[in-house]
Amino acid sequence: MQNKVTVVGAGNVGATTAQRIFDKGYADVVLVDVVEGLPQGKALDMLEAGPIVASDASVKGSNSYEDTAGSDIVIITAGIARRPGMSRDDLLTTNMNIVGSVTSEVVQHSPNAILIIVSNPLDAMVQHAFSVSNFPSQRVIGMAGVLDTARFRTFLAEETGVSVRDIQAYVLGGHGDSMVPLPKYTTIGGVPISDLLPTDVLERIIQRTRDGGAEIVGLLKTGSAYYAPSAAVVEMVESILFDQKRVLPCAAQLDGEYGITGLYLGVPTKLGRTGVEQIVELDLTATEKEGLQHSANEVEELNKVMASLRNA
Ligand code: LAC
Repeated sequence: MQNKVTVVGAGNVGATTAQRIFDKGYADVVLVDVVEGLPQGKALDMLEAGPIVASDASVKGSNSYEDTAGSDIVIITAGIARRPGMSRDDLLTTNMNIVGSVTSEVVQHSPNAILIIVSNPLDAMVQHAFSVSNFPSQRVIGMAGVLDTARFRTFLAEETGVSVRDIQAYVLGGHGDSMVPLPKYTTIGGVPISDLLPTDVLERIIQRTRDGGAEIVGLLKTGSAYYAPSAAVVEMVESILFDQKRVLPCAAQLDGEYGITGLYLGVPTKLGRTGVEQIVELDLTATEKEGLQHSANEVEELNKVMASLRNA
């Protein structure tokens, strides 16, 4: 049987994600949005590219969650995006309501699905989707680390003139200003980055990575990034659908790993057909541990705000 993937939100991130999955023929895709005609129009347009891109998959746009029934993976991109000057945290209340109602709809129709959350503020939204879904945490995952790591690798490749494919890197922590790039685990062709770049250059690249989302928002002015975010989601989808067991940095719920319990945070995870199959624990320096704890505290603050809104 063909895999089925639902993408909720037919904005730039959702539509581009649907397109990437459809083009590769990985799954039949359902694109859902509240706006009438928008998902239908975009899906039909994608479908008509099928003969050219050689995809026999189906892609359907819908305003109804009934069409999403029996999905293997549901990707939630719904919510408002940042405008210049806004932080991801400014989106909290609005997107909490949107992600909450989307989650309760999708889990009714796809009780065995794996949820990939993309809406911001990411770590808080994945925590909220986990609470609303009542799914095991293994099946509720957030996309951020693959994107942040890709940005880090892009900038390192630009600086060093080496293929992006030969740059290994990790960016952990929350998807925000407190994200934690790990120079110790960043290598080019196996050589540690600290042997190749002076500290000030590395610091500049790390800061640009932290500001990577805002840099795009500043340029676009009317929305946020979507090409790299959608590519990051699809790398996770591939690992799950095809049980590749890739080790990818994702927001996963920690259960004592890194000394943190019950909180969603960006960490290396092994992704397979059942979702997060393992959280990989890296040996961190004291500074990196501090950075991760600081990031955890920031995520915790947002979770507290959400808990008070839930009880209000
Ligand atoms: C970014 C948004 C999607 O990092 O959070 O571009």
